[in-house]
Amino acid sequence: MTELPLVLAMTGASGAGFAIRLLQCLRHAGIPVQLTYSDAALQVLRTELGLRIESCETEFRPELFGLDGAAPWWQRLSDSPPPDLGPQVQPEAPVEVYAVNDLSSPIASGSHLTRGMIICPCSGNTLSAVARAAASNLIHRAADVHLKERRPLVLVTRETPLSTPQLENMAAVSRFGATVLPASPGWYHGVRSIYDLIDFIVARILDQFRIPHQLTSRWGTLAKEE
Ligand SMILES: Cc1cc2nc3c(=O)[nH]c(=O)nc-3n(C[C@H](O)[C@H](O)[C@H](O)COP(=O)(O)O)c2cc1C
Repeated sequence: MTELPLVLAMTGASGAGFAIRLLQCLRHAGIPVQLTYSDAALQVLRTELGLRIESCETEFRPELFGLDGAAPWWQRLSDSPPPDLGPQVQPEAPVEVYAVNDLSSPIASGSHLTRGMIICPCSGNTLSAVARAAASNLIHRAADVHLKERRPLVLVTRETPLSTPQLENMAAVSRFGATVLPASPGWYHGVRSIYDLIDFIVARILDQFRIPHQLTSRWGTLAKEE
């Protein structure tokens, strides 16, 4: 049986590096991805990583995401590339891109089967829409579909400090069945570079879907220091 696709939505919270590294890992793992992004996400991708993607872009071109070619996604974050992802066991799967205002796309319907959905990074605005079942764009609608179909939905939120409405929205989506996975990395695994922080979060996201990876060591296998 062919693998079900995973929906990945990028919204306008800070932390674009988490999203691109995640996309890189999903492709490496051979997971088909159905991708959509808000206009604010494109602004953050440009501000933080220098990636210039137009909202009308619906053909997946890896170079636009810094995953191929002369301008890699990490060049503003580090002098060196991220750690290698290890041997590629599965062939790379396709990435399909849907415009955020295309409410007729497959992911807008519960009849379209998916493995689940990740919103990474997830803005307070999108969190609020998910908490209220607002469906005014494709990201909100797809999230609502995942809730109603009782499929995994992971929200990688990023904001600090958190307002009371945001805290209440997090509690609400958690009650409705979503997983709130704040972009808040641990520091106990021997942090030496920005990739240790990025990969900590990406590993936790992949774990939610039981996608194998070698991004970080697991607690219990780490050497304990005096
Ligand atoms: C560079 C930049 C960084 C931002 N960082 C955050 C953030 O970390 N968290 C957040 O909730 N909103 C953040 N925002 C604001 C959101 O982008 C804004 O609320 C937007 O309306 C979200 O729209 P969306 O949910 O459709 O992506 C940021 C905006 C910009 C331009």
